[in-house]
Amino acid sequence: MKLFNYLLKDVRQKIEYYSRFSPSPMSIKQFLDFGRENACEKTSYMFLRKELAVRLANTMREVTLLPANLQSQPSVKLVESCSNLILSQQLKSSNGKQLIIVGFSFLEILIKIRNRHNDVVPTMAQGVIEYKEKFGFDPFISSNVQYFLDRFYTNRISFRMLINQHTLLFGDAACLAQPKHIGSIDPACNVAEVVTDAYETAKMLCEQYYMTAPELKIGEFNSKAPKKPIQVVYVPSHLFHMLFELFKNSMRATVELYENSSEGLPPVKAMVTLGKEDLSVKISDKGGGVPLRKIDRLFNYMYSTAPTPRLDPSQTTVPLAGFGYGLPISRLYARYFQGDLNLYSIEGFGTDAVIHLKALSSESFERLPVFNKSAWRHYQTGPEADDWSNPSSDPRDASTYNLKQNTAT
Ligand SMILES: Nc1ncnc2c1ncn2[C@@H]1O[C@H](COP(=O)(O)OP(=O)(O)O)[C@@H](O)[C@H]1O
Ligand SMILES: [Mg+2]
Repeated sequence: MKLFNYLLKDVRQKIEYYSRFSPSPMSIKQFLDFGRENACEKTSYMFLRKELAVRLANTMREVTLLPANLQSQPSVKLVESCSNLILSQQLKSSNGKQLIIVGFSFLEILIKIRNRHNDVVPTMAQGVIEYKEKFGFDPFISSNVQYFLDRFYTNRISFRMLINQHTLLFGDAACLAQPKHIGSIDPACNVAEVVTDAYETAKMLCEQYYMTAPELKIGEFNSKAPKKPIQVVYVPSHLFHMLFELFKNSMRATVELYENSSEGLPPVKAMVTLGKEDLSVKISDKGGGVPLRKIDRLFNYMYSTAPTPRLDPSQTTVPLAGFGYGLPISRLYARYFQGDLNLYSIEGFGTDAVIHLKALSSESFERLPVFNKSAWRHYQTGPEADDWSNPSSDPRDASTYNLKQNTAT
């Protein structure tokens, strides 16, 4: 117990220490150059040793600002991996010369951390939904949860990116990796191929549920080199993740709208476009769309229109929809390398979902959360009083609202 308390105190001190540093964002080009120029394991190890700790510590500081009953499960996992990492550093300092042995155990620890975090997203999602069922919907909590999860998941994406680059370049599996890939990056990722892959996978899932699925129509417009296939230096698994989520949503909307109609299903269309700065992929469906009022909610982790699937470890099939984190997480993947993901929906007709990526790998810098005063302030202040008129008939008493705000801060 004494030892545990000592370790915990030590971990807290390290979190405090490392959170004073800001994370160092890398660009896809930097990842690529590093991996190509006969990558040095020692350099990578030295970078990760500090950078992973800095990124973890920045997130850990925010975990402690969340409502108490939300802090419980996932943060424990995070603390564990955090302490593992920190302990691994101690190992290094006590035996600095034996880098190969230490480097190897570091690699093992990295893989352990990554695998342990495999189910963090569904676990978190389940926690958030249970929280909502138990305590109801509170706009203050919801905006804090939204803010926190966007940052927490971004951090997780970045963490896995760093770990994967290291393990794929230097680990045992290095020889099994795709020969043309540099770690998880494809230097010539054919976008239309990823679109087709994601469509096929979503189609299989859709057919399992509904016995049918809409067709795909795919087009390309390359403004830089007309008629040449569009390629990008990117992480194909990230692109796949986003497209797979968009296809599942489009298929579900289409099939549900046309379920009882005698006409066939309208196809889902994909348009891949390359400009000077942006590479965009638009997925369009005729699934009836979403009213404008609800669009913002679709990116909310506490919202889904499908019934919530229960997490059941014995069940091997993946749910088609239901946790409500398909869109928000996909948008984080897009934003992670300075892109974005937007929905333009025409209610009564259908939806266009657009993924924007940076066309140039030198501009695709990681977008990372930083723990600082303005992040801290986010957790302290509630949603502001609305400064536009309210359509509801009963006038709101702004004075009591302001009073509450003042006493709360
Ligand atoms: N293309 C679309 N057409 C109609 N509704 C959509 C579309 N994409 C998303 N939605 C709505 O947005 C909600 C949230 O989507 P998502 O984040 O993927 O979570 P989930 O699919 O698990 O519900 C969906 O439940 C659905 O109501
Ligand atoms: Mg979905």
